[in-house]
Formats: sequence, C-alpha cells, structure tokens
Amino acid sequence: MASVTALRSVELGVTDLRRSVTFYRECWGLRPVAEGPGSCFLRATGPEHHVLALRERPAPMLIRINFAAASPRAVQKLHGEFKSIGVAVRAEPGPIEDPGGGYGFAFPDRAGRELRILTDIATHTDAVDAPDRARKLSHVVLNSTDADADAAFFLDVLDFRLSDQTAMMEFLRCNADHHSVAFVRADNVSLNHVAFEMPDWEAVMRGAGRMKENGHALEWGVGRHGPGNNVFAYFIEPDGFVIEYTSELQHIDEALHKPGKPQDWARPPNRLDQWGYAGAPSERILDAMNGARQARH
Ligand SMILES: [Fe+2]
Repeated sequence: MASVTALRSVELGVTDLRRSVTFYRECWGLRPVAEGPGSCFLRATGPEHHVLALRERPAPMLIRINFAAASPRAVQKLHGEFKSIGVAVRAEPGPIEDPGGGYGFAFPDRAGRELRILTDIATHTDAVDAPDRARKLSHVVLNSTDADADAAFFLDVLDFRLSDQTAMMEFLRCNADHHSVAFVRADNVSLNHVAFEMPDWEAVMRGAGRMKENGHALEWGVGRHGPGNNVFAYFIEPDGFVIEYTSELQHIDEALHKPGKPQDWARPPNRLDQWGYAGAPSERILDAMNGARQARH
C-alpha cells in the first residue's frame, strides 16, 4: 500500500530573508545549499537535500510541509487515492522546480494547509553527524481549531498512525519516529513549532549553548517530554516561529505499541516535563507557539 514514509522539510515565509539565513546558518547550525530569487534552502547533516526552505513574504507564515513517498509509483498511487476520495489535489504529479528537484504533487489538508508529497529528490552523499548540529527535521506541530478532525485526515487519508493523545495534543507517526506531525487544540490554524533532530542530548545542549552565546534565550527547557520521551530545548527565531532542538525521540514498535490516552499522561500541574527541570515555558514562547505573529489562513 502506498503511504507517506517521512517528513522531509518545512517551508516558512520570512520577512527579511538575509536576516533569517544568517540566523539559521550562524546560530541554529543549518547550511544553505541553494538560493533562488527571494528564497534559500538549508540542509541539516543528514542526506535530505534540504530540511528548511525560507521564502521572503510580507508576513511570517507556514507555506508548506513536504513529506516523502517511496517511489514515483507510490506518489501516483497516493494521488489517485486522494482524487478518488475528493481531496482537492492541485495538479497531476510532476517534476518539482525547487532545488533538489524530485517528483510529486501538492494538496491542501482539511484546514487548508498546503502539503506536498515528493520522491526522487537529490540526496547528499556526505551525511555524517556533527556534535552540535541537527541531522534532520524531527517533527512539525500544528495549531488546530479541530485537532480531532485534522488528526483524522492524517490517519484516514495519509495513513499516519496515532502514537499518543493528551488533553492538548494528538501525536501522529508515519514511520518508527513517535511523531512526525502533532496537532495542538488551539483557537487558530497556525504553526506551533518545528523540531530539528540532534544526534544525542549532548548535541541539544551544545546547540542550546550556541544559541545562548548568540543572544537567543532558552524559552523552554532543557527537559524531557512525556509523549515521545524526547529531550527538548525551545527557542524563538527572528520571525517569531518557535524552533526546537530535540533528541532521543521514542521509536515505535508497530507490533507492540498501544497509543496512550489523556489520562495516561496526567501529571501534577507544575510538572511540565519528566525531569521536573524545564519549568514553565516563557510567556513569550506561549504567544509564539500560538502563532501570534503569523499570517492567518
Ligand atoms: Fe516538539
């Protein structure tokens, strides 16, 4: 059966491209691999051609999320399935004009966010972990006015699996990673945060140290989440998007995993991570997570 196999990259609209490229290169630790008019594509240390596309826009916004499928045949099969159930696919699958190329198609999800499924993108052959840099995109968390319906679209149409539910969130996977996408019950449709996978918790600390040295305060963390069991450190980037260094995300055994329910994740109100070390997220980051500066759908 054709299905989405991974999260590839996220595309953000930023208001000052030069400023953002400098930030993601110097402070966050990504590397530009291609530039176009008003756009820049940045890689992590892994084989994925790019994990972040920045495009200059009048206001900060989530432009698109790119997922992987295994082959052109899988892309075509998904396209056919989507059309048959009434998903408003934008066009037939075709070559992708962006750096890295590839083959795929775009479509809106239930709430109108643009998603794209891509295969055959150029990959890097020099992938090697670095002690303080991200190796790939880990997950994208989306604010939703109807998280149950948004999760149902990903489960039923994109063949994601439910990993865990809390009172606030739905965690969904498309491979062994505990979540590639999660939805937050919110009062608007926006981007909550984007997480980048570091090789280990020490790399999270080294990345957090580099951010601190460059004047970017740690807004929440360092801590270890409940669902997903991952180590986290959260920051706010120049356009007000929330970005996370993470490591040790739980790998799911499909045969054994039983999704947790909200009551399984209940904890004392002051305990917001497993260690009890992270404390509360800053007011600034709560606003930023709720998409305060982003253009609305
Ligand atoms: Fe996260």
